[in-house]
Amino acid sequence: EAESSPNVTWEGLSVPREEREKQNGHKAGVVWLTGLSGAGKSTIAKAVEERLFDADVQTMMLDGDNVRHGLSGDLGFTPADRTENIRRVSEVARLFFEQGNVTLCSFVSPYQEDRDRARELLPEDVRDRFLEVHVDCPLEVCKERDTKGLYEKAEAGEITNFTGVSAPYEAPEDPDVVVNTDEMGVEACADQIVEALEARGIV
Ligand code: PPS
Repeated sequence: EAESSPNVTWEGLSVPREEREKQNGHKAGVVWLTGLSGAGKSTIAKAVEERLFDADVQTMMLDGDNVRHGLSGDLGFTPADRTENIRRVSEVARLFFEQGNVTLCSFVSPYQEDRDRARELLPEDVRDRFLEVHVDCPLEVCKERDTKGLYEKAEAGEITNFTGVSAPYEAPEDPDVVVNTDEMGVEACADQIVEALEARGIV
């Protein structure tokens, strides 16, 4: 913090994360869902959140479509704007983490470097509580689904910089979880993510 904001000190939390975790009965974590538009990131995040909520886990949800109406309402889809979008939400995820939550983040987040930076915002000793989840679905299937009609527009040139059509997607090099939404149903994908949270001792 000191380097980027010279005259700003860091206000410590009155309740440390460990105390909140003790009271909550679970650990803080970040579930980062990355994948193509239409792969199913938000759908799976919602299914995971419902399960965690039912198990009395404190959850937070950050989703591309929603964040882009507010916090990142000034950003488009150039590489620099995407990086800035991911930087902002990564910082929010870090704040939520320090307050003991399990935060579900659904963003195309096409660059490995940006996702790595999100992970590195967590303290080193608890960095294994950042789960990079590849919501994997073949581009052809996403195009067929075209739930929002965006692929059609992108192919017609009406939207520029569209991931998978006119902008790159870097699949995770070393994902913590891979869910294939072409072959698996929503519930099976959610199961796999909850199991990973259990295996890391988060919930
Ligand atoms: S990023 O790359 O992480 O900053 O993108 P994100 O914030 O997740 O926003 C992706 C959603 O915005 C819609 N949209 C686009 N996606 C990709 N490329 C372009 N050019 C674009 N323009 C609009 C789209 O609905 C994405 O939502 P999802 O839920 O992924 O389909």
